Amino acid sequence: MTLLELDDVTVRYGEAVAVDGVSLAVAPRERVALIGPNGAGKTSLLNAACGLIRPASGRVRIEADDVTGATPGSIVRRGVSQVPEGRHVFGTLPVEANLLLGAYGRVFRLEIVSSTLRYLRSRRDVRDQLERVYDLLPKLRELRERPAGRTSGGEQQMVAIGRALMASPRLLAIDELSLGLAPRLVQSLAEFLVRLNEEEGVAILLVDQSASLAFSLCERAYVLETGRVTLEGASRDLVGRPEVRSAYLGGGPDAPS
Ligand SMILES: Nc1ncnc2c1ncn2[C@@H]1O[C@H](COP(=O)(O)OP(=O)(O)OP(=O)(O)O)[C@@H](O)[C@H]1O
Ligand SMILES: [Mg+2]
Repeated sequence: MTLLELDDVTVRYGEAVAVDGVSLAVAPRERVALIGPNGAGKTSLLNAACGLIRPASGRVRIEADDVTGATPGSIVRRGVSQVPEGRHVFGTLPVEANLLLGAYGRVFRLEIVSSTLRYLRSRRDVRDQLERVYDLLPKLRELRERPAGRTSGGEQQMVAIGRALMASPRLLAIDELSLGLAPRLVQSLAEFLVRLNEEEGVAILLVDQSASLAFSLCERAYVLETGRVTLEGASRDLVGRPEVRSAYLGGGPDAPS
């Protein structure tokens, strides 16, 4: 059965059509990439999948259940968590508080943050899950007391991933993994995601500016251009196609394969 399915999804902002009838599917334990130029509609599509935008038309399904128009919190409870573009960590809060708030879903009021955190720390299941995330990403255990805004870009990406993992997702939808990060850091995050996928069975839906990263990390990919899927297939087939090489892999015959 398909884990996440978008069926003929359209997203509009007023009159503007950002996503125009896109169908996409991710199977359990699969790694799927979504690439395309700036403004193609990648973030809009992920946001529609994660309940942050209501599609103008089309359906979103998780394990065949129709979740179109469901709240972000209920999508998270059904097993789909997002790592948002730009990470959006709470810079003044310690790393651990950022992680704990991931267990609470996306919506909470900043003025009740300390009581929320007290409540979350009191819960055994949340503490156990926190330890699990620290075991997966030990660097976060070292940084647990540091304000998230005083960690590096790569560490903040780790916080955003750890926060999404607090909800025990079966699918992690990542919007721009590598943006602004040094290649060495990107490499180690990519290796982490492959391990998470292979050992914990978490499916990955990855949006990234770097098509070569997306193709090397994911077995299957979709190319989105001005709101429409123009190509889809196995990454190893797509990387050989001249139109993909010229538009996304730096052109010539020496582009990475
Ligand atoms: N909140 C919004 N209101 C109006 N238009 C929007 C909004 N968000 C995105 N758009 C427009 O929708 C289109 C798709 O944007 P989107 O951010 O989904 O693309 P993207 O593929 O994620 O781009 P990028 O690679 O820059 O992240 C663009 O034309 C963008 O200007
Ligand atoms: Mg985007």
